[in-house]
Amino acid sequence: MAKIVNSWNDWDPLKRVIVGRCDNSMIPPEEPATSEKVPVDSEMRGMWGLRPLATVERGNECLENLVKAVEDRGVVVDRPTPLQWNQAIGTPDFRNDSMMTCMPPRDILLTIGNEIMASANSFRCRYFEYLAYWPLMKQYFDEDPEFKWTQAPRPRLTDASYKHNYYDEKITLEERLVRTANKDFVTTEVEPMWDAADVMRMGKDLFIQHGLTTNRTAMEWFQRYYPELRVHAMNFPGDPYPIHIDATFVPLRPGLIINNPHRHPAEGQLAIFEANDWEVVDAAQPAHDEPPALCYSSVWLSMNCLVLDPKTVIVEASEVHQQEQMDKLGMNVVPVDLRDAYPFGGGLHCSTADVYREGGCEDYFP
Ligand code: NVA
Repeated sequence: MAKIVNSWNDWDPLKRVIVGRCDNSMIPPEEPATSEKVPVDSEMRGMWGLRPLATVERGNECLENLVKAVEDRGVVVDRPTPLQWNQAIGTPDFRNDSMMTCMPPRDILLTIGNEIMASANSFRCRYFEYLAYWPLMKQYFDEDPEFKWTQAPRPRLTDASYKHNYYDEKITLEERLVRTANKDFVTTEVEPMWDAADVMRMGKDLFIQHGLTTNRTAMEWFQRYYPELRVHAMNFPGDPYPIHIDATFVPLRPGLIINNPHRHPAEGQLAIFEANDWEVVDAAQPAHDEPPALCYSSVWLSMNCLVLDPKTVIVEASEVHQQEQMDKLGMNVVPVDLRDAYPFGGGLHCSTADVYREGGCEDYFP
């Protein structure tokens, strides 16, 4: 029996990874948590249904580019099993007219050491997304006797989980920024809610973004669940749509982080990095002025890279400025054409979930 699952950070040598699939992806109907996250001027506002088939096929082609790039470097790739995401769902607490997708896996699966935990997402449409990964979890469970297969406490997602009338179409960008600065988000604190992509793993330390998708109760839950780890809340007051830390604050190797220049950490939150001589550099400008059509994310997916080892990083092929910066920072850059997968939920880091990286649980902030 082999050791299949092990990963403590985002930079140790990658040996096995899950890459998402775009099949059957939906633009989900609006619901309490999602309307806050779709920019007011987005063409996706008010629209829902199956994503056009040609875009699904093209998104899958992009993901195949990524699969090939990592397999060529000896990384084993696993894929989820998509469901018919257009089915309506219900629990005792809510009904929703559809699910969403199994892109990106990074939002759903959190790997910490020999454990993979399915998250506690605040979107109702993502409530059953974990099912796409259950065949893989069973396989790892059968093949790796040390693998811990875990599901975080499931949120109920009743109306009490969201602030009512929080979203208002007339809200300006400035008002949004005031809310972010005041840590005033659409979710309440009645239960832990979190997306795995808000959790940045750095060995003994977890840095977790508090924003529209992850609340403070989740951080308290993490600290009790992992008493041997240190949990740090992070806020980025410059982000009007604070969702997922991996287009904001991205480690490349021990001692080096690229930071979105519009989203610096809140006062005092850099201190631990400075005290331990980490370099935090502003990321290069994105190569694009706009995200692709029908995309939820910002142009800053430019910095959403996949580190293969502390000297090698995959960067999206059109992001020439980010590639150049990585090169100057001493990384070997592998370009992969992935931009047409962005609308399905994100860039290179988002599109994956760690299964195995070499290395153990180090203390980078002694
Ligand atoms: N909120 C982020 C998504 C990161 C994957 C952005 O669009 O910049």
